[in-house]
Amino acid sequence: MSVSVETLGRVAWLRREIGIHDRAYYELDAPTIPDSAYDALFRELRELEAAHPELVAPDSPTQRVGGRPLAQFAPVTHAAPMLSIQTETDTGASGAEHFDSRVRRELELAAEVEYVAELKFDGLAVSLRFEQGIFTQGATRGDGVTGEDVTQNLKTIRDIPLRLAGEAPPLLEVRGEVYIRRDDLLRYNEKAQARGEKPLVNPRNGAAGSIRQLDPNIAARRPLKFFAYGIGATDGWNLPATQQELLDALSNFGLPVCAHRVVARGWRELADFHDRIGKERARIPFDIDGVVYKVNSLALQDRLGFRSREPRWAVAHKYPAEEARTTVLAIDVQVGRTGALTPVAKLQPVFVGGVTVSNATLHNEEEVRRKDVRVGDAVIVRRAGDVIPEVVAVVFDARPMKASEDDLFTRVPLHPPFELPETCPQCGSHVAREEGGAIARCSGGLVCPAQARGALLHFASRRAMDIEGLGDKLVDQLILGGHVKTPADLYDLTVHALALLDRMGEKSAENIVQAIEKSRHTSLARFIFALGIRNVGESTARDLARHFGSLAALQNADAAALESIPDIGPIVAESIVDFFAEMHNRGEIARLVGAGVHWEEHEGAANTLSGPLVGKLFVLTGTLPGLKREDARALIEAAGGKVSGSVSKKTSYVVAGEEAGSKLDRARELGIAILDETELLKLLHGECS
Ligand code: IVH
Repeated sequence: MSVSVETLGRVAWLRREIGIHDRAYYELDAPTIPDSAYDALFRELRELEAAHPELVAPDSPTQRVGGRPLAQFAPVTHAAPMLSIQTETDTGASGAEHFDSRVRRELELAAEVEYVAELKFDGLAVSLRFEQGIFTQGATRGDGVTGEDVTQNLKTIRDIPLRLAGEAPPLLEVRGEVYIRRDDLLRYNEKAQARGEKPLVNPRNGAAGSIRQLDPNIAARRPLKFFAYGIGATDGWNLPATQQELLDALSNFGLPVCAHRVVARGWRELADFHDRIGKERARIPFDIDGVVYKVNSLALQDRLGFRSREPRWAVAHKYPAEEARTTVLAIDVQVGRTGALTPVAKLQPVFVGGVTVSNATLHNEEEVRRKDVRVGDAVIVRRAGDVIPEVVAVVFDARPMKASEDDLFTRVPLHPPFELPETCPQCGSHVAREEGGAIARCSGGLVCPAQARGALLHFASRRAMDIEGLGDKLVDQLILGGHVKTPADLYDLTVHALALLDRMGEKSAENIVQAIEKSRHTSLARFIFALGIRNVGESTARDLARHFGSLAALQNADAAALESIPDIGPIVAESIVDFFAEMHNRGEIARLVGAGVHWEEHEGAANTLSGPLVGKLFVLTGTLPGLKREDARALIEAAGGKVSGSVSKKTSYVVAGEEAGSKLDRARELGIAILDETELLKLLHGECS
């Protein structure tokens, strides 16, 4: 059946049109038509080609979408061997000088030699064969003589033209690198994980792994790209005179050539390029592992020739690897200044990015879950520039496994998925969840040592307790010297203790103590604000004071009562409930009140004798597991009870912790009720023991 002129014209038009939209979409990142319209064009072309197989051309856009999976790759003998390159780690100026002097010695040249300095792309080397301008075969390097035929996979890469532009020679073998941009990898991994697929470990493995897939549909889904950096065999082509002109010619054929390259005269300019790229490396959107210096003149390249498999006219100078593989020894949890809990991987020390790294951030719990990092895992760590080292991905194939308890033939991971602790590793306060659980925060804002500095500075600030002279330098000194841990400690400071601090005269010490003294008399609104409850600013504090009138009423308010106040939503209400649910915070408040901090109350009073423990006398002995002695005392007093130092017949309860001594013995003798910490807390909540 002959093909009509209309059909021929339509097919040519469709191919041109699809080519234009492909360029807009893949190269310029600016789609010109909706996906559905593009799909319609593509479908029409495929149908016309199916109806008229004689029209199928090797450079038709329909040839890019993967065909059937192969059983195995066919071997390909390269028309010209694919060489490797001498790689040196002596990379500074002396490395460039050494290479330059060797080249000049071998060429017997006294004059300066011209070089091209290029990037060393960190991907997979391939060879592309173009016959009469048509891409006919693509191969991996293999052993340099014979590689594997990966044409189907390479055709899916939009960067690679199916037909060369301009006047292409009868034969041209192009050498270059398949790679993946870092941003494309991130985007791909997000989607892959949303689909429940394994993420790509890093750009290089991603590129190499994709090209080695027998099913071209896999490569088609991966964001692969290509850079040309040289040639193999050619026929019928008037070779350019230099490497620089060769790259320009390849670019004119429509092949992607990297713009980061310079023509350098002498070794100093090579060394300059090495330094400059080293600094810019983190900003280059794809991974490189070094730079490559090549003698620019192809005639001089010929004269220098080869030594075994390496050309004598080129050398690679590597940068320290930015990524390395190591093992997770433990996952620790650090508490930040604002109480945010950050999981940190403790690593088998590894040299990466020029330093030895033994810790890497895992950002937050969600991130650990998403990457599924576990103790014992082999992981890829990355340290680029001055950026904090991070765990990029787990090498799942290397995860330690054990036999399942249910079924001995099934293997399951040796370690369970990571979970953040329920309590703060610094102060034992409970951990609250924010933003849908993504952020975990210690709720012991007042008592947590990790948050001490911020809590103290906020407490003393002008709009809070307004303690003049208590600035960040003094707070640092007080914390470092062990004088103050929490706001209530401020009220125990003496002129004598302060005067002993660096750069503190007797007079200034007196002023500070006076300022602290003065702050004892405050307002309920200021006091609430000073507590530093998350999401409670000055005006919310004022609303709360006005609404509840007393601290006791606020402390006992539930979320519904809080949300009944205009301007208080569920997030603020939750922060308040979380804060007062934390016994450490309540203890600290009781200590502050005990230290004489007071205000006018509108109704009821938090600091008069009331509460479940009125009339009860306590004695504390030994070390309690969670509460400090003074916190326990403050809690008891806040609930109306009294604490004494010695056991007598009048004692109602003895609270005993670890290594309790004679007081416990005496309590037993007298038959007095003995409580542990849990029982005390129950009592404080008004539950009978
Ligand atoms: S030229 C005859 N240039 O480095 C010299 N290689 O060769 C042939 N590589 O895996 C290599 N970037 O894929 C050359 N700008 C560049 C390169 C480069 C990366 C890779 C190449 C091969 C390795 C050693």
